[in-house]
Amino acid sequence: MPHNAVPLRLLMVEPTYYNVSYAINPWMAPDRWKQDPAGLYAQAQAASAALRAALEAAGAVVEMVPGTPGLPDMVFPANAAVVLNGRALLSRFQHVERRGEEARFLAIFEGLRARGLLDEVAQLPEGCFQEGAGDCIWDATRGHFWAGWGPRSSRAAVDALATFFGHGVVPLQLVSDRCYHLDVGFCPLGGGHIFYLPAALTPEALETLRARVAPEWLIEATEEDLRHFNVNAVCLGHTVVMSQSTPRLRATLQSRGYHLVEVDLGPFMLSGGGAFCMTLNLSQQSVP
Ligand code: ARG
Repeated sequence: MPHNAVPLRLLMVEPTYYNVSYAINPWMAPDRWKQDPAGLYAQAQAASAALRAALEAAGAVVEMVPGTPGLPDMVFPANAAVVLNGRALLSRFQHVERRGEEARFLAIFEGLRARGLLDEVAQLPEGCFQEGAGDCIWDATRGHFWAGWGPRSSRAAVDALATFFGHGVVPLQLVSDRCYHLDVGFCPLGGGHIFYLPAALTPEALETLRARVAPEWLIEATEEDLRHFNVNAVCLGHTVVMSQSTPRLRATLQSRGYHLVEVDLGPFMLSGGGAFCMTLNLSQQSVP
């Protein structure tokens, strides 16, 4: 049963053309993929379907759109755009391997606009990189975005985001390539907590976070949670959908009132992705 009056509408991309054929983050394992391309491909199709089913069971509506041959990372539409109040600001990718996605997602988002699922589709000024909701996460509790920058998105994009959306954008510099997008190590949860890996952030970014969020609202993730891509989670109210977790994390989140739904996303973790980045929230509103 959806807990919001307006259901959460999530964009996903069919994994028809998914594979791991290059490495642009330290989790990507093209050699591992080469050992069993057919087996891993089949597992990826099943994993994407299982994630979709879990999200729908939790009350979300999933818009599934086709991928494109030669653009395997399109299965991570969190990187396609930042969306708020029906307005989408399209990404500019840092790596040449993903730049072809920009034109594809422009066409997809124009299609969503034609269907009335978005009101506006806009482009970032040139000269900066910004990899969508992966590096610009809406915090519904606090009414602002948290924006990761460093490995992928540029610091200059923060101002462009703030100008376009007219909402606060709090920059957090990422310190490590393992957390190359903010969403790998940072997840605002529906009940107001922030689940995050301290080691993902620079000392300044940690200070910024701790100045804005009281300690009882911060839940620290561990290296083990990072390895399992458990911080890269989709939160629907108090239900948190993520890749396979651990008894310890299950207990931690349950003690704060959350219910975990786990999906085996192994084939996508071989590209450095988990549940959050396999989706993009199209229905995100600044006033719930
Ligand atoms: N292979 C993709 C990349 O490196 C994975 C993207 C995952 N997305 C995310 N928001 N964390 O770009």
